[in-house]
Amino acid sequence: MIRQVVYLSTARNPGSDADLTAILDTARAKNGDKGITGLLAHGGTLFLQILEGTPEAIDALMAKISADTRHRSLRVLQDIMVDERSFCGTTMAARTLDPDAAHLIAARLRNGMLPATTIAAVLGDAAEAAFGAQVLKAA
Ligand SMILES: Cc1cc2nc3c(=O)[nH]c(=O)nc-3n(C[C@H](O)[C@H](O)[C@H](O)COP(=O)(O)O)c2cc1C
Repeated sequence: MIRQVVYLSTARNPGSDADLTAILDTARAKNGDKGITGLLAHGGTLFLQILEGTPEAIDALMAKISADTRHRSLRVLQDIMVDERSFCGTTMAARTLDPDAAHLIAARLRNGMLPATTIAAVLGDAAEAAFGAQVLKAA
């Protein structure tokens, strides 16, 4: 079983490509060794991230991410155990985040679980081109 966390947060510097590039570089450099995979979406003032890995690896990373001053008001929308990864082989995919999509996802998650692949499907793919992300591979 794999732990999968979905959270929303508010960027300190909304729309900062420098922050986003640095975060993605770090994520891609570090996540592989820790067995973490996932997706980071950014748009407007919001980040939405999906992280998957062992419960211990997720705990350790969430502690770091929660303390990161590049964002604030982190709220976990979903924290579940799943049979398999949705982002197998992808250390950190990048997506654009339309604020309407973020609010839709948050509202849906208040009423129950949403598969990560469904969340990924409603996110835009412009960031993929802009930041040279690896192709999203849904399991
Ligand atoms: C929105 C956001 C997402 C992040 N995602 C990751 C991630 O997936 N993996 C990672 O190692 N660090 C991520 N970070 C960066 C961590 O907060 C932290 O700066 C980084 O892991 C380096 O920590 P260290 O120097 O203590 O090892 C993210 C930061 C932010 C603001």
